Amino acid sequence: MFVFKSCSKFVSVCTILFILLKKCQFCQWNLLYAVQLQYGVDESYKLSIPSHGTQVYAHIEAQTVYGVLHGLQTFSQLCRFNFTNRAIEVHQVPWYIIDQPRFFYRGLLIDTSRHYLPLPIIKNIIDSMTYAKLNVLHWHIVDTQSFPLEIPSFPKLWNGAYSISERYTMADAAEIVSYAQRRGISVLAEIDVPGHALSWGTGYPSLWPSKDCQQPLDVSKEFTFKVIDGILSDFSKTFKYRFVHLGGDEVNTSCWTETPRIRKWLRQHGLDTSGAYQYFVLRAQKIALSHGYEIINWEETFNDFGSKLSRKTVVHNWLGGGVAEKVVAAGLRCIVSNQDKWYLDHLDAPWEGFYMNEPLTNITNHQQQKLILGGEVCMWGEHIDASDIEQTIWPRAAAAAERLWSAYDNLAKDPSQVFGRLAHFRCLLNQRGVAAAPLVGPGRVAPEEPGSCYKQ
Ligand SMILES: *[C@@H]1O[C@H](CO)[C@@H](O)[C@H](O)[C@H]1NC(C)=O
Ligand SMILES: *[C@@H]1O[C@H](CO)[C@@H](O)[C@H](O)[C@H]1NC(C)=O
Ligand SMILES: *[C@@H]1O[C@H](CO)[C@@H](O)[C@H](O)[C@H]1NC(C)=O
Repeated sequence: MFVFKSCSKFVSVCTILFILLKKCQFCQWNLLYAVQLQYGVDESYKLSIPSHGTQVYAHIEAQTVYGVLHGLQTFSQLCRFNFTNRAIEVHQVPWYIIDQPRFFYRGLLIDTSRHYLPLPIIKNIIDSMTYAKLNVLHWHIVDTQSFPLEIPSFPKLWNGAYSISERYTMADAAEIVSYAQRRGISVLAEIDVPGHALSWGTGYPSLWPSKDCQQPLDVSKEFTFKVIDGILSDFSKTFKYRFVHLGGDEVNTSCWTETPRIRKWLRQHGLDTSGAYQYFVLRAQKIALSHGYEIINWEETFNDFGSKLSRKTVVHNWLGGGVAEKVVAAGLRCIVSNQDKWYLDHLDAPWEGFYMNEPLTNITNHQQQKLILGGEVCMWGEHIDASDIEQTIWPRAAAAAERLWSAYDNLAKDPSQVFGRLAHFRCLLNQRGVAAAPLVGPGRVAPEEPGSCYKQ
């Protein structure tokens, strides 16, 4: 048994990091931090915990600080508080763990347009993601309903916020990015164009096709693309992840044909509505590329004109299964988020479905497999807010997180083999102050009856 005499009862990574920093005189932490967090960064680690005594130390070896963080996370999850001798113990020693993620992209989407999420809530979510080794916070910042973020280049855009206080300054955004980065999590920023953008017009009504027909964004105006360019220029100073998400889903073009001015423009340019949709998406892609980003677009763009997309596009699947295999067969990269399994806002979607959803389904060619960057669970905000987001994300996101981290051969073939450890992980989340909901029941549920956390 390996015993920490000096630990407090609630072992967190920070406690352990503190202990290690105090005891470790030879670690080159500054050097480690110099490795920039970016897609594809080495997250592997080796963790060894010896058998006996208080004189020997557990040992973590990693190529980057992000690997170290994962190693500390694993280590903290092996610790148990013993109420008899009041020490923190690691059982079943010795341990020798060699670990690395199966996918580089392991995401969680949050949506701050449908409901504003205060900064402390977002930070709590970031903290909780580290417990499950998720590494990308996909921030769906704006949508039809509200535009909460400050855009210095176009300072009236956040007039589209729900209220004067439900807003993020760019300094807030930078704080989120740096808070996440220090925990090994990248922030993927999204502006969803040309649909899902009605709120942009509150500050700049000329972005609307007309006063009565307010989205998608006016395809016929240069001003529309100037605004996108300004946003992405501002983004590039704060959001340093390799990718930016440009949305592109659910575009209803009827406002374009119903507005005489735009109808005329379409005719002059020889475009029908689907041609105009393609023109818009490709032009937005070029702007993103000019700011040094690679692009992620929702799958409709691929389904409608996949061969025209920039080769730097990552297609974000959501409508259902069977899409990823087509995307990679076409030589493009893909992130998997099929809504039937990985949409957390589907409150009745059970954790078993989250666990069993395999991103490489029907993809056998090794080169094509490598084009699947990973997957993402999506916490759309229509029906949740700060009051219940944690229990809607957890523990179901953790089931997907294991699928995205663990080597395929180590994954359970039957979710019944997972219940015990997932229940344990859910109780750990509760112990760390995360409001993770019970596992027993259909989807996100409240406790059914009195009983131990480990049985619910
Ligand atoms: C807790 O510590 C006591 C005393 O060292 C030991 O006998 C017992 O097995 C430990 N409990 C567990 C659950 O390991
Ligand atoms: C598309 O938008 C038009 C105009 O806003 C609306 O009348 C119509 O119902 C929408 N179609 C769909 C399928 O949502
Ligand atoms: C995988 O391929 C099989 C056989 O073509 C098909 O029946 C199944 O629906 C596919 N699965 C998914 C998730 O697309």
